[in-house]
Amino acid sequence: MATAKSVPTKASKARRTRRTGRRDPLAISLLKKDHREVEGWFDEYEQLEDAGEKLALFNQIALALKTHTRLEEEIFYPEERGDVEDDLLDEAYVEHDGAKKLIAEIEAMKPSDDFYDAKVKVLGEYIKHHVKEEEQPGGIFAQAKKGDEDLDAMGERIKVRKSELMAELSPPKAN
Ligand SMILES: [Fe+2]
Ligand SMILES: [Fe+2]
Repeated sequence: MATAKSVPTKASKARRTRRTGRRDPLAISLLKKDHREVEGWFDEYEQLEDAGEKLALFNQIALALKTHTRLEEEIFYPEERGDVEDDLLDEAYVEHDGAKKLIAEIEAMKPSDDFYDAKVKVLGEYIKHHVKEEEQPGGIFAQAKKGDEDLDAMGERIKVRKSELMAELSPPKAN
């Protein structure tokens, strides 16, 4: 029910957890933290002019996105089947696949190539859209929070798996 004016009263059971620090369960807060980090890097990318800096930042973005999508695909999404609508989860996998294809295309290019910046920009917009599907009211995270999974315990597993994946997916250090 919509109230005409929002009176700043009690925090109702619908907990808003923007960046006010009110607590999300660990799995959700870790995934959101990844989202904020990579969004910041896409913004930073737009300020860059140097090809070497662009490449380094894109590689950082790519590693973060590959790790994050694997975490969601290996742990979060499958464990949320049943709590989150199937359609939303199915679409999320498809969006991950779209992002991975775009990442692979960019990885095959050089920052000086035509359309390099445009592809990075479009990837950023694509990710923003996907993140919204996860974070918006009624979206994947909201449904997960209402479900039965222990999202704090899941968060602990996400943490461990994240460091394994970061190591596994990091490109070998240049000589
Ligand atoms: Fe996702
Ligand atoms: Fe995500």
